[in-house]
Order: sequence, then C-alpha cells, then structure tokens
Amino acid sequence: MLILKIRKTMKSLLTLGIICMLGIASCTSDNEEDTFSGNNNNGGCDTTNVSFTKIIMPLIQNNCLSCHNSTSPVLSNYDQISKNATRILGAIKHQPGFRSMPPGGKLPDCSIAQFEAWVNQGKKNN
Ligand code: HEC
Repeated sequence: MLILKIRKTMKSLLTLGIICMLGIASCTSDNEEDTFSGNNNNGGCDTTNVSFTKIIMPLIQNNCLSCHNSTSPVLSNYDQISKNATRILGAIKHQPGFRSMPPGGKLPDCSIAQFEAWVNQGKKNN
C-alpha cells in the first residue's frame, strides 16, 4: 500500500516535471520569435531619445484613451500625460500601490521600456 502511494507520488511529480519543461520550452521559442520580428526588449526595441509625438502619444491613444479621455486621470494631451507620468509608469509596470493598467492585461515590454525611457529622458515634448 505504502509503496503504491510512493509510486503514485513519483508519477505525479514526473508528470509535473514534464509539464514544466514543456512550459519553459514554449516560452523560449516565443522569445525567439519576438527577437526575429524585432519586437523585443534587447533586440529591436528602440529606447533612444523617445519621441512624445511618435511613440508616447500613439501608445496612450491606442491603449488608454478609450477610457482615459473621460476617466480620471484624463490623459489626452502632453500636459496631462507628463503630469501623471509617475502614476502611469507604476500602473503599466503593475507596481504595488498602483492600479494595474490597462485593466485587461499588460502592455508589451517594449512599450513599457519606451515609456520609462521617455520619463528618464526628461519627459520631452518632442
Ligand atoms: C477599460 C478602461 C481603461 C483602460 C483601457 C485604461 N484604464 Fe486606466 N483606469 C481605468 C479606471 C476605471 C481607473 C480607476 C479610476 C478610479 O477609480 O479613480 C483607472 C486608473 C488609472 C490610473 C490611476 C492608477 C493609480 O493607482 O493611481 C492610471 C495612472 C491609469 N489608469 C493609466 C492608464 C494607462 C496608462 C492606460 C493605458 C496603458 C490605461 N489606464 C488604460 C480604466 C481604464
């Protein structure tokens, strides 16, 4: 009886191990795809001199303005985005103490990196 139990435990551990390995394998191949399409943090993500007009405004427009053209904080122009930058960064990085934004998921790593870079580069209105 005891031996049977141990065997069962071993079996489920093994199954768990295989599932974990499969998980890791699929993640790795996802990352490779991202690198090839140039949409990856280390690969094609351009964080040098991030432009408000070309990068930040479209990012907010496409992902946030459906709500935040009326929901507080309103984020429809440079002044409002700039003024709320710390809160935005906390929200899109899902940091504790901030409501995670956007509500349905998380922005691509590159978009988060670009927003953070824009803040660190002095929130230029460029
Ligand atoms: C589906 C609607 C929706 C979308 C899309 C959305 N938000 Fe929000 N957001 C809300 C709501 C609702 C609140 C909470 C407002 C409140 O309770 O005061 C909120 C709160 C916030 C806050 C305040 C968080 C805090 O804890 O201080 C920030 C900053 C914010 N959103 C930024 C964003 C950004 C940036 C995006 C886009 C990446 C985004 N939101 C997308 C609905 C949305």
